[in-house]
Amino acid sequence: MHLKRIAMCALALSLTCGGMIASAQSTESQAQKAARERNWWKNAVIYEIYPRSFQDTNGDGIGDLNGITEHLDYLQKLGVDAIWLTPVYPSPQVDFGYDISDYRAIDPQYGTMADFNRLVKEAGRHHIRVIMDMVMNHTSDQHPWFLQSRSSRTNPYRNWYVWHDGKGETATSPGQPPNNWESDFGHSAWQWDPKTRQYYYHAFYIQQPDLNWNNAAVHQAFKDIISFWLERGVGGFRFDAITNLFEDPSLADETVIKGKDGKPLINAFGDPVLDDSKTNNLPGVHTVMQEMRAHMDTFDSASFPGTRVLIGETYLRNIGELRKMYGTPAHPEFELPMDTQLGFINKLDVAAFRAKLTDAETKIGRNTPLLVFDNHDNPRLDLRYGDGVHNLAIQRVISTVLFASRGTALFYYGDEIGMKTTPPTRKADVKDPIGITGWPKQKGRDGERTPMQWNTSANAGFTSGKPWLPVPPTAATMNVQDEQHDPTSMLAWYRELIQLKKTNPAMQHGDNVMLDISNDKVLSWMRQAPGAPAVVVSANFTAQPQTVNLAADGHLSAHAHLHKLLISPGGSEPQSVDRIELAPFGVYVGEVQ
Ligand code: NOJ
Repeated sequence: MHLKRIAMCALALSLTCGGMIASAQSTESQAQKAARERNWWKNAVIYEIYPRSFQDTNGDGIGDLNGITEHLDYLQKLGVDAIWLTPVYPSPQVDFGYDISDYRAIDPQYGTMADFNRLVKEAGRHHIRVIMDMVMNHTSDQHPWFLQSRSSRTNPYRNWYVWHDGKGETATSPGQPPNNWESDFGHSAWQWDPKTRQYYYHAFYIQQPDLNWNNAAVHQAFKDIISFWLERGVGGFRFDAITNLFEDPSLADETVIKGKDGKPLINAFGDPVLDDSKTNNLPGVHTVMQEMRAHMDTFDSASFPGTRVLIGETYLRNIGELRKMYGTPAHPEFELPMDTQLGFINKLDVAAFRAKLTDAETKIGRNTPLLVFDNHDNPRLDLRYGDGVHNLAIQRVISTVLFASRGTALFYYGDEIGMKTTPPTRKADVKDPIGITGWPKQKGRDGERTPMQWNTSANAGFTSGKPWLPVPPTAATMNVQDEQHDPTSMLAWYRELIQLKKTNPAMQHGDNVMLDISNDKVLSWMRQAPGAPAVVVSANFTAQPQTVNLAADGHLSAHAHLHKLLISPGGSEPQSVDRIELAPFGVYVGEVQ
């Protein structure tokens, strides 16, 4: 309606109409702008930074906040809308920041509050939001709350943590822990504290005691912490280990999972595998999330009007559980709980990818999926999806699924240059305590946390000192400096895909429609938005060339012409939708005309 009236006025060149045009355009563009700002996260590209490993600027071998600020031009050029920083708060660094001893400051290893303020300001100038990690399940055992809590059974902070008596305690022995619950990082989740003669619960390391979320004071403390950072202009939070918040008050044992031979399954730490039914994803999580979201929704900030986003670390059993994490319109929870169903299939299986993408399209109530394939806790893409021969081509396939599907895309620093997992080869070199406890079956997470590879100078340009983890030898060929001048590089591929995601109308918000759905070698889909040319995507999941006919299932006419948007190296341009030839692990993206 509006457009028609504006066109007519333009023809008539009437002064009165001219006034109408100006006001209609400005009202419309203001409304559009407001909606875009409110919904910035819906088609966003979010980049995870492990600050320790991104860029060191003071020569101590550890990355810092100023190092991130230094690379904002690079991130903007890549097309990043927000950066998520893993924790930069003061911490004894037992779990490299996930053991927080002060939630309202910056660890001197990473810089100062002034550096942080500068980062947020400069990021804003680059249209990049800064998302903080918020660890609410546990603190460091050096946090003042825990120091108080463990000091006596009558201390006002005693009930801020999860304390219980053991079984069969005597004057000379602690007896046994309250039950069989295990820490994610190996062995019993209960730690005996001799001073007050009780056990405390820790879902992760001994140095990470769990907070008691049945205590209202804990809720209030975190709302205050959230306000503290929102007032500093952050663009939102990623809630760590959110499904761990509650434990079953019955303290009943968890069930031991048995293998086909009837014997208990044993994990990498040598412990029996449990079903986690008493310690994971209990219903109280949703109540807390509704409360935290309602609190966040009361905030507005001058620098970034619009929504502060809430991202969840949500490893869940199925799509139904993921659906619940969004909450309801009346009681919203996360805007973006991570969809780990798709990204951690860890196998190039067309049918499984198709099923998970269909779930994300049809079973989360038209909410926005947050797709993610990589992070600081899992081996990089090469180890989970690569075949050792075509790793880079396979990464092109994965990144196409990530950026060409509907939703928000989250990726991990270094993916864009094809960085490989580089695990330690000797136990003596391991930094991540999981790797020390679990060696050699579990080598820990150092391999995916190695320094960012900027150039071919010493230490890949990461530090002038001794890097906290060794710089992988692949830095000689995989680095930003070389790749940014090479149109066939992984970096160029990521930039092009992200550019398409941001600018092509169907790729921005179009629905995902699966095509050629009985094909088990090639994954194909179409992005379809009203009034925009459809975009088709085909990704070959095999090491052999494949030919696909995307007209076969009736969604597209065999006569439709295609306009190439992106083809992976070695591919050729198809003439029509009924014959698309793909190289081994080749990708084609084209607009239907
Ligand atoms: C999940 C984080 O991603 C991981 O790095 C950390 O060790 C655990 N939560 C405990 O906070």
